[in-house]
Amino acid sequence: PSTLYWNELRTAVAGCQACDLHTTRTQTVFGVGDQNASLMIVGEAPGADEDRQGEPFVGRAGQLLTAMLEAIGLGREQVYIANVIKCRPPGNRDPHVEEAAACQPYLHRQIELLQPRLILSVGRVSAHNLLGTEESVGRLRGRTHRFEPGDIPLIVTYHPAYLLRRPQEKAK
Ligand code: URA
Repeated sequence: PSTLYWNELRTAVAGCQACDLHTTRTQTVFGVGDQNASLMIVGEAPGADEDRQGEPFVGRAGQLLTAMLEAIGLGREQVYIANVIKCRPPGNRDPHVEEAAACQPYLHRQIELLQPRLILSVGRVSAHNLLGTEESVGRLRGRTHRFEPGDIPLIVTYHPAYLLRRPQEKAK
């Protein structure tokens, strides 16, 4: 994946069988948005709605994310949105370590092609995979990290699905 350009990368993801998630997916969820965006948002993995539609963040959590972007004057089409994992984990369970490892080259290549000015990592699974840490989101948020390779500024915040469960945290 590390040498592929957008179209080939998308095709490689669509046919990927590198982990068991390919046996239960409806389709892969590659990513969506502006390939020249300065802001990239990285979530965890597709849920049922994303698995059905082939696009990240289109379910309830996605609607909240879209509303949050609009609140800061950004349309979905102005940013790039992707997930750490391109296939839906059954029952929305956390991805296994092997699944995240198998999928990592795809996201890393997306980041390398995009060269965003800022990565917004939403939720624990995204933050842990991108930063290689096990610190809580509560501790990771509020400061600027760096994504390697590329030395790209990265900030962490709560996952919109978490904010749907704990709306009192939205103000943060
Ligand atoms: N949650 C995520 O992390 N990603 C999606 O695409 C949808 C829900």
